[in-house]
Amino acid sequence: MSGMIGVVGSNMVDLVTTIGRMPAWGETLEAPGFAMGFGGKGANQAVAAARLGASVMMVTRVGDDLFGGDVKNNLERNGVDVRHVRTAPGAANGVAPIFIDPNGENAILIVKGANDHLSPADVDAASSDLARCGLIVLQLEVPLETVYHTIDWARREGISVLLNPAPANPDLDLDRVKDVAFFMPNQTELALLTGRETETVEQATEAAQLLLARGMGTVVVTLGGDGALLVTPDGVEHLPPVRVQARDTSGAGDAFIGAFAAHFMGGLALRPALREATRYAALSVTRSGTQASFAGAAEFAGFDPQRER
Ligand code: RIB
Ligand code: NA
Repeated sequence: MSGMIGVVGSNMVDLVTTIGRMPAWGETLEAPGFAMGFGGKGANQAVAAARLGASVMMVTRVGDDLFGGDVKNNLERNGVDVRHVRTAPGAANGVAPIFIDPNGENAILIVKGANDHLSPADVDAASSDLARCGLIVLQLEVPLETVYHTIDWARREGISVLLNPAPANPDLDLDRVKDVAFFMPNQTELALLTGRETETVEQATEAAQLLLARGMGTVVVTLGGDGALLVTPDGVEHLPPVRVQARDTSGAGDAFIGAFAAHFMGGLALRPALREATRYAALSVTRSGTQASFAGAAEFAGFDPQRER
């Protein structure tokens, strides 16, 4: 099996405003800060994995605008293979206005733009390169049709798929994705997909077990500050959190997925790879931004959570 990772997914430009509080409708409010950054769940996961030394290719559509070229350059600078990063003619790049409050909590709007143009034909056009990957990573910021098509293709090729069903989408047909190797939702996504409450670890465990009953093999639920849950037919394990002082949690889920993919494809077993993912996501929340907060391999190796409390 090749260690290469293929990310078929989204890219965005994050427009990050730090706020004291949300303005009410009709109200104008001053906010303390603004920064632009490269984001999008697909690109974030690709960049996290590449910064950790994985070999990563990405299939994505950028905008036919000011942002498109920069987004592609950014992926390339981070070592991602961009031969299948194409422009969507006439479309704006995806953007994500993100609001960060003084507690580091975030609210995110997603304007998909060019990402909505990523089609099954784009996946077919990349298939001879994707076929060299050992793992295909998917999220839900591109058309569902493209997600299903990629999963069907990977099944025929015998290539493992990691599906991060983010952001939460009630239209996701679980029957079409149930045989992915890894299904990795957060609590909100899990609640929406199962119709269950997932607030406590016990509730999240029960909801994840419903997915197993539908045929999923390995479900990993990210629990934010509470770590993660590994739920398989062999049992349930709570992976404890790495405690840090959170400054900006946006992109933490992507850091987790990208780091898991990199470590797993780098040869670590499932549990150790998940533990590294938990540590990597913890480091990312201590810093502002999404991709901007993702460490490189050397820096990550020197990460000491004790110093970040
Ligand atoms: O998961 C975080 C990401 O969600 C941000 O980078 C933003 O672009 C949205 O896609
Ligand atoms: Na961050």
